[in-house]
Amino acid sequence: MSEKYCFTVGEEGQKSLGLLDITFNDQSQYFVKKHGLQQGMSVLDIGCGLGTMTQFMAEIVGDTGKVVAIDSNENQIKAAQNRCPEHLQKRITWQVADIYDLEKVGKNFDLVYCRFVLHHIYKPRFALSQIEKVLKPGGIYIGIEGIVNAIFTIPDNIAWRSGNFPVEVEEGIGRNANIGKILPRLIHEANMKCIAADIYQPMLVSPEVRRLLLIGECFENKHYQIENNHLTEAEWQRKQDNLKACIDDENTLIGFYAANFTASRKI
Ligand SMILES: C[S@@+](CC[C@H](N)C(=O)[O-])C[C@H]1O[C@@H](n2cnc3c(N)ncnc32)[C@H](O)[C@@H]1O
Repeated sequence: MSEKYCFTVGEEGQKSLGLLDITFNDQSQYFVKKHGLQQGMSVLDIGCGLGTMTQFMAEIVGDTGKVVAIDSNENQIKAAQNRCPEHLQKRITWQVADIYDLEKVGKNFDLVYCRFVLHHIYKPRFALSQIEKVLKPGGIYIGIEGIVNAIFTIPDNIAWRSGNFPVEVEEGIGRNANIGKILPRLIHEANMKCIAADIYQPMLVSPEVRRLLLIGECFENKHYQIENNHLTEAEWQRKQDNLKACIDDENTLIGFYAANFTASRKI
């Protein structure tokens, strides 16, 4: 079965992926450095999206290292490549490739980085077995995955509440928007040793950042939800109006997705 990615990609999807960068990059950069990213390393970035973390890792590995950045979507790779400054291009190989097919991409990587990808795919166990295969012995896997049902507002508002997101399950645990919760167990099953797992949940404070939640194509998955009969157009619009009111009320606290930041070693 071919798997359909449900968010907007490429240049169009920039703003929503930009929200992930705004909310999670500081912590991601701190975490990859703390758990071993160094000059001279060979790194694989899987599902690189806009490639901002790819660029950060290319800065750290320097001219003696390299980063291979893959994404299954060609437009996403083009968008990432276009945004990358010239001085980093020679350290980065951009490639359209699937997480299920990593052996075609390379082997013996010192570090594999993969953020917010496993919850989009139907066979995360198989994907982790691929990651384990392309690491060198002792190599590091940095896996950062969401716990989407951690979202909340205070006071509670139906517009931004756990349960708004469809979770599909197929082939065992399947496509799971809360996969961050069970990531350490999956890592163990993939024969890697999990050495750190930190849960981090950003609060959305600035009005500009809060408004990024309104990019309906992405965060409320407008087309996906309507095509799959989860919501009618009118129901989606009502939810969107509620969300706007909640965002504009500065007395409402908004908790964004949580994520489990994991670091593991190939045994
Ligand atoms: C939510 S985005 C995360 C992007 C980036 N890692 C970040 O954290 O900002 C998920 C990315 O994974 C890519 N993707 C989805 N399924 C994939 C697969 N089977 N193999 C490789 N990449 C995939 C998507 O095209 C998208 O760019």
